[in-house]
Amino acid sequence: MAQDIAVELHDAVLTVTLNRPAKKNALTEEMYGALADTIVRAETDPKVRVVLLRAEGDLFSAGNDIADFSRLAARIARQTADQAADRTANETPGTPADGLASGVTEQMNVWRFLRALAASTTPIVAAVQGQAVGVGTTMLLHCDYVILAEGATLITPFVDLALVPEAASTVLLPQRIGHARAFGMFALAEPLTAEDAVAYGLANRVVRAEALPETAQGVAAALAARPPGALAATKRLMRDADGLTAIMDREVAEFTGRLASPEAREAFTAFAERRKPDYSRFS
Ligand code: COA
Repeated sequence: MAQDIAVELHDAVLTVTLNRPAKKNALTEEMYGALADTIVRAETDPKVRVVLLRAEGDLFSAGNDIADFSRLAARIARQTADQAADRTANETPGTPADGLASGVTEQMNVWRFLRALAASTTPIVAAVQGQAVGVGTTMLLHCDYVILAEGATLITPFVDLALVPEAASTVLLPQRIGHARAFGMFALAEPLTAEDAVAYGLANRVVRAEALPETAQGVAAALAARPPGALAATKRLMRDADGLTAIMDREVAEFTGRLASPEAREAFTAFAERRKPDYSRFS
């Protein structure tokens, strides 16, 4: 288990803590692996009745680790170039670059985690403080009861990073809050306040920051006391797991192509250099 993800089982509640506060809980491949294993464990371990997702530090999550994105983009570019060279040498018909790229990424822990979330029938409670960025927000669309601390904001700057949204959020977010607001969030990185998130149906309630842990524990305990079979069946009936996975697969194909694009390279480099990206040379 990655040290940046802490997991603790107490009174049938599996508490999963994002524990990389120095990097604002940015999520690495290793962390996604631990998260995926934990969601799968919650499905199969009868001692687990509820998952409680929380984070250490001032901020829930800064989203995917951008240095990881950069490394992965370089790997895709290398593999694509190698395979193109092999094709030329063998004079065999070409495979589309996207096909090569998705071959590199489809087994990644991040997609394993998101697919596990889509398939999950165990109730998931989330406690969110500070900001939830990117996947930090889109994973909340798969949680069943979301509690936000006062002042929390949800932000999905995928286009700012020259990427596309994931976690089936291209369908789930507009379904929940309407196309106009979802487009503003995706394309212009417009933040959603905690109060608006509750008003639009993305979260259940806003509480004082000091009350967040106790409130989340209380909700998790209340769920853990319910009949688990009925709870799991209710969650299953409320969600179309296969449909969500199909949407995720579509997003992964596009995301992977974008990840290796020159636009995305500019975005990742700008983040590392702490400057604003410049997209003026791209058409
Ligand atoms: N990936 C990798 N590292 C990240 C990160 C990310 N997504 N978000 C933050 N960090 C790192 C910073 O590089 C910094 O590392 P350093 O101390 O070694 O220099 C550290 O976490 C603290 O971040 P900092 O930016 O100084 O904190 P802040 O409180 O001023 O701002 C955020 C917090 C979340 C607003 C800001 O870090 C941010 O915008 N991060 C990127 C978010 C993003 O675009 N995520 C991808 C979404 S698809």
